[in-house]
Amino acid sequence: MRPLIAGNWKMHGSLRDAGVLAEGVRAGGAGARAELLVCPPFPYLVPVGGALGSDVALGGQDCHAAAKGAHTGDVAAAMLRDVGASYVILGHSERRADHGETDSVVRAKAEAALAAGLTPIVCVGESEAQRVVGEAEAVVTLQLDGSLPEGFAEAGGVVAYEPVWAIGTGLTPTEVEIAAMHATIRANLEKHFAAAGAKLRILYGGSVKPGNAKGILALPHVDGALVGGASLVAGDFLAIAAGVPDAA
Ligand code: 13P
Repeated sequence: MRPLIAGNWKMHGSLRDAGVLAEGVRAGGAGARAELLVCPPFPYLVPVGGALGSDVALGGQDCHAAAKGAHTGDVAAAMLRDVGASYVILGHSERRADHGETDSVVRAKAEAALAAGLTPIVCVGESEAQRVVGEAEAVVTLQLDGSLPEGFAEAGGVVAYEPVWAIGTGLTPTEVEIAAMHATIRANLEKHFAAAGAKLRILYGGSVKPGNAKGILALPHVDGALVGGASLVAGDFLAIAAGVPDAA
């Protein structure tokens, strides 16, 4: 499967910064071995989508579970689709922490994304305390069991494993630990979706940088990366994408 390298810009930058960054990413989009995806803040989706051109995909960082309605400050999946997004990140640990999103909320959002024709990227990952006591795999398994909706596999849904303690810290699990967790996630996807689960992309996220990307992306069941900080520099983001294995 073609790896996916996704940039989560989070709540960073100005309109001008977003335009410059999108232009920089566009330059590397054509001919990239990996599929490239950029997820800017909501107000910048339209200009960034225009600046990215057709070789780089556009995504949202969240959507509401309802198709429409009285939900001040929220954005519907169909609105993202309407402005050219094809993906949406759901259940990021920052949304789980900042907005109290539970697995069932994430699943409802993923259902809304599927109904609107968006590909959900469902994020899971353990805290440092959970890893220290040996609960990482159990936590991630529970998150997957609670967050993945029916129809996820048919739509080519994506799972992103992002250990909370690795996000923005410069720390990462060892390659052995990443490979073990991705194998667990693959087994879970096959449990839920049978053979279709073998074909879904599992991304790693958490302090992915040009210097560690190649090693991580070569691991079994690592089918791409979800990149935060390093996605804010076009050259770093493209260098990460250049780290996907040749055979991919
Ligand atoms: P960093 O790459 O900044 O650690 O962020 C990862 C992340 O949260 C992507 O969604």
